[in-house]
Amino acid sequence: MRQENTVGSDVLDLDRKSVIHPFTDLRAHDAAESPARIIKRGQGIRVYDDAGAEFIDAFSGLYCVNIGYGRQEVADAIHAQAKELAYYHAYAGHGSAPAAELSAKILSWYGPGMARVFYGLSGSDANETQAKIVWYYNNVLGRPEKKKIISRLRGYHGATVISGSMTGLPFYHKAFDLPCGPILHTTNPHHYFEAEPGMSEAEFSRKCARDLEILIEREGPDTVAAFIGEPVLGTGGLIPPPEGYWDEIQAVLKEHDILLIADEVICGFGRTGARFGSHLYGMKPDLITVAKGMTSGYLPLSGVIVSDQIWRVLKQGSDAFGVFSHGYTYTAHPLCAAAGVANLEILEKERLVENARDTGAYFQAQMRLAFVDHPLVGEVRGVGLMGAIEFVADKKKKRRFDPDLKVGARLAAACLERGLISRAMPHGDILGFAPPLILRPDDIDVIIEKLRRAIDQVTDELRRSGDAY
Ligand SMILES: Cc1ncc(COP(=O)(O)O)c(C=O)c1O
Repeated sequence: MRQENTVGSDVLDLDRKSVIHPFTDLRAHDAAESPARIIKRGQGIRVYDDAGAEFIDAFSGLYCVNIGYGRQEVADAIHAQAKELAYYHAYAGHGSAPAAELSAKILSWYGPGMARVFYGLSGSDANETQAKIVWYYNNVLGRPEKKKIISRLRGYHGATVISGSMTGLPFYHKAFDLPCGPILHTTNPHHYFEAEPGMSEAEFSRKCARDLEILIEREGPDTVAAFIGEPVLGTGGLIPPPEGYWDEIQAVLKEHDILLIADEVICGFGRTGARFGSHLYGMKPDLITVAKGMTSGYLPLSGVIVSDQIWRVLKQGSDAFGVFSHGYTYTAHPLCAAAGVANLEILEKERLVENARDTGAYFQAQMRLAFVDHPLVGEVRGVGLMGAIEFVADKKKKRRFDPDLKVGARLAAACLERGLISRAMPHGDILGFAPPLILRPDDIDVIIEKLRRAIDQVTDELRRSGDAY
């Protein structure tokens, strides 16, 4: 793979000698044998490395910088809060103005049915909290056996012990003794690969619900506490649900008194073109996980939003167990909350959810128009401002490329050479896109043009090597 142009810079040398990077080949990075880059600054939808190269960030960092880079309002809000009160804890009923304001805003953004917000610092820790709340809930209700949590193959819920176990991607488990704990996995809802030939989306959704029901009955409904799912499957391949999916799944959960956790870490705060993915798909979650888009990544913050029903039971728990003994030093951190308030104000003022819907519709249409007929493209999919192109070796037979060809990674590298950041998703040859919600239609035209040239380059290489026809 091409060595990036910042190799050898002082900062990169220092970095290689001092930092452990997530999801990085540690030996290759240490030996300066793998691509690396120091990102120095960002403005709008663009970032710049320390050699001055410019990139359109069509993945918003990691699907999080929804308001774009360099927003003065957020920097000012953090600055003002740091001067007033940089930190105080939230234990034993202590609070801060920004955390209270942000929570009220989040509840009103979601609408009726949700009662309170509990804060962490990452999507992963928020999903650990979800598991603990679900277990606590059933302990309060005197159902100590009802503890299993079902997630989906290809779902992504984080990298800590329980959230990493919820994650349904083997790549995240191997060598870490995961999955562990009372976590089960059910069918990946990807119609393109998983449906039987001739099966409609609606039929496939019914099949997914049937598979779930079989799993619940096999385990015993009295042992299953919750189901966790992303409204649109994210890191597993940016896969919108097949038609009718969430209705079918929710009917099964209701039948067996199983809670629904909507993991809105990517979908929440506008990415799908609705405020929450749950709204778009008619989901009625009992618990919601939020993170990324809540602060647009300006500071780390995650949250668990609980419904009226969950909140009633949590309060009931005080009688049985005393204080709610869960939380972190940095729960409801005032600086992060101030960043969250400023971020939500920008989303509101600039109507960025509506922009994700309208510009997102253009993005989806242009992606399909440009690439659906390409001989190596199996599927173009997405909703709002999130989407993916899945590349296959044989379009008719839906046959994947040999993983050793690293087609996805080569495509992402070819995009990068043209100043476009996309993401080679970790399962299959999938190029993912989740651009900032400030994107305009003319930005999309530029992205599509760069992408077209990158795909042409890799297609030519594959044809020349005899790996594609
Ligand atoms: C749906 C979902 N849940 C949870 C997480 C984990 O979040 P974090 O990386 O902040 O721990 C992610 C991260 O991408 C995610 O996409």
